[in-house]
Amino acid sequence: MSATPDRLVPDFIAHWVVKTARSAEMIDWYGHVFGARVVHEDNQIAFLTWDHESHRLALVKLPPPLRYAFPLSRWRRKTYGIDHLAFTFTSVARLLLTYERLAGVGIRPVWSINHGPTTSLYYEDPEGIRLEFQTENHPTAQKTAEYFGSDAFSENPIGTNIDPDYLLERLRAGTEPADLLKPGAGVRPGTKPKSNKRTITWKTL
Ligand SMILES: [Fe+2]
Repeated sequence: MSATPDRLVPDFIAHWVVKTARSAEMIDWYGHVFGARVVHEDNQIAFLTWDHESHRLALVKLPPPLRYAFPLSRWRRKTYGIDHLAFTFTSVARLLLTYERLAGVGIRPVWSINHGPTTSLYYEDPEGIRLEFQTENHPTAQKTAEYFGSDAFSENPIGTNIDPDYLLERLRAGTEPADLLKPGAGVRPGTKPKSNKRTITWKTL
């Protein structure tokens, strides 16, 4: 049971729910990205899961023409409210091999960056909901906390863009996984990566 000394708190995240006029595209996308399977579907709702939970994602189905009623809805997150959900991969190899698998079916990140604390690939589902696929750059939470207090973090709190294809090449060439997580490890030689606020463009915002 999760508890602090003076109060009970929720134990873990269970699921999220999306009202969508693109339910077929969403089911297809989550099927590719998470290996999600539909555990219930009718003409009003679909429940999907990909692990031990009964459902991780529910889709409330809206009439498809409604997608045209809210043409700017996928950009809401660029300005206000929840920005993204983050999912951890337990190794940089698992993250990069997932990148490769998804690229093979045409699903590519909208932003690839070494944040300092994490190496992160951001994807967007068909409704524009942003998902961060990350792996920790430091071996323990304590080491990450120490990084938050470092000069490196205060000088560049956003991070430096990376080329996941280059990291994949380095992984295949036998580079130690820990070395792929270091600052600059994902910068292909001869290229000039964007760092810190310059990484923020309309696409990555
Ligand atoms: Fe994040």
